[in-house]
Amino acid sequence: MGKEAFPMYMELSSESSFTTFYANSKAGTLGEDSDVSPVRDCREMIYEAGEEWPMMTFTLVLLLIFIAKFIYGKKKNMPPGRRGWPLVGDSFNCLFGKWAVVSADPIFNRFVMQNEGKLFQSSYPKSFRDLVGKNGVITLQGYEHRRLHAISSNLMRFDKLKFHFLNDIQLIMIQTLNNLHNNQVILLQDVCRKVAINQMVNQLLGISSECEINEMAQLFSDFVDGCLSLPINFPGFTYHTAMKAREKIISKIKKTIDKQRQPAGSTQVSNGVLGRLLEEESLPDETISDFIINLLFAGNETTAKTMLFAVFFLNQCPTALNQLLEEQQGLTSNEMLTWQDYKAMPFTQCVIDETLRIGGIAIWLMREAKEDVTYQDYVIPKGCFVVPFLSAVHLDENLYHDALTFNPWRWMDPENQEKRNWRNSPFYSPFGGGARFCPGAELARLQIALFLHYFVITYRWSQLKEDRMSFFPSARLVNGFQIRLMRRHEHMKSSD
Ligand code: HEM
Repeated sequence: MGKEAFPMYMELSSESSFTTFYANSKAGTLGEDSDVSPVRDCREMIYEAGEEWPMMTFTLVLLLIFIAKFIYGKKKNMPPGRRGWPLVGDSFNCLFGKWAVVSADPIFNRFVMQNEGKLFQSSYPKSFRDLVGKNGVITLQGYEHRRLHAISSNLMRFDKLKFHFLNDIQLIMIQTLNNLHNNQVILLQDVCRKVAINQMVNQLLGISSECEINEMAQLFSDFVDGCLSLPINFPGFTYHTAMKAREKIISKIKKTIDKQRQPAGSTQVSNGVLGRLLEEESLPDETISDFIINLLFAGNETTAKTMLFAVFFLNQCPTALNQLLEEQQGLTSNEMLTWQDYKAMPFTQCVIDETLRIGGIAIWLMREAKEDVTYQDYVIPKGCFVVPFLSAVHLDENLYHDALTFNPWRWMDPENQEKRNWRNSPFYSPFGGGARFCPGAELARLQIALFLHYFVITYRWSQLKEDRMSFFPSARLVNGFQIRLMRRHEHMKSSD
């Protein structure tokens, strides 16, 4: 498929990794689905946008309303890229039309992330802010943002996982996976979503009874769907259902807060993030609700899709699957895994890193320049959108040999150790960086590792339908990864 076939595209300049682009809103049609390929070129991800226009996420709406028109230049000016008037479909420009700088330059991306709140700030449409809440860590700016970010990082930091999350994650994992039976045909995409939602219900609200989890999981699921839908707040639309789910989730949170405030000893509040937040911090009720809902939004799809993609990649690389299985089967614990077990999974960690590199869910970030920003020879005007394109860096052949190939062993190479430091590395930043660095990163990694453990030691599977990744309207496998499960042993660990 040539890019000429697409009514919108952008190019990363060969002279520089910046592109400035201005775009229209009219997505066109794509040709036939291309051949099955596990990893697709970043440009193809952009191309695919035309295919599924009606369901775009808010970030995509922002991105796709811009079309590339470039000018090359090295003067003190806008970063290189042709510019001009949109060719067709001006309707959105008067609403949203703004310049955008898309960057595949790791050093510039880091500069943007590290200047969050100073030169740049994250920027979301009102419909999204209404849904996730204007008092949450994602939507707040400045001092309030820093405060909530510190609280969330503290609640989920590495050394707390051992006490607060390790066993609960396993109980919920076993409970959820135990509902699958031998020879069952499943869409793994749906199962991973269920696993991640059940985990969120348990970890955020501290609920562990299966029946209560199922009730809340439905609300969580409706809410998450709304974050990926067109913002039409009218009965029958996904966004409307999500707004209703938001109200019910808030009401549940408020009930828990009320219980907590009853005299000591009269009730027992479970120890989810909410319970600990109430114990350790004093925040207004509205802030607490939005805080929890923000975590739900940020932590659910990201984790679910990384679990899914990991199995998808392993499925295509039997040597890696066998090595991971061997590692997991070799762990010492007979019952629940211990913290020592978690720390003894070096190859599984490589699989997670490699999955995040080529199947990174946060393919780009969205920022807005707060003022005219001078960077090297360029000036990025105030109000301009800036898009650090994380996946473009992760898939850069100059940084990663055979970049489109799933190769978990690359992370064992001593030469890659510095690059691998996902907290600081400009070349590998699946969890972002700077003031908005993902506070749930360690928790997500623990959940994914435990999912891989229980999934691979319990089941073998055969793929029933070909599949491929797509990032529009959100990260997914186009056919949901249809597989038949076969239990390895009939004695899966029980949660009882
Ligand atoms: C594999 C899973 C995950 C990935 C790839 C991921 C990735 C990211 C990235 C790239 C950002 C930065 C966004 C930006 O700069 O605009 C972010 C922010 C965030 N993540 Fe994650 N995340 C994951 C899981 C989680 C989990 C499990 C939670 C919590 C339960 C979580 C909570 C958050 C929150 C609250 C923010 C916003 C931080 C802020 O704006 O200050 N994430 N995540």
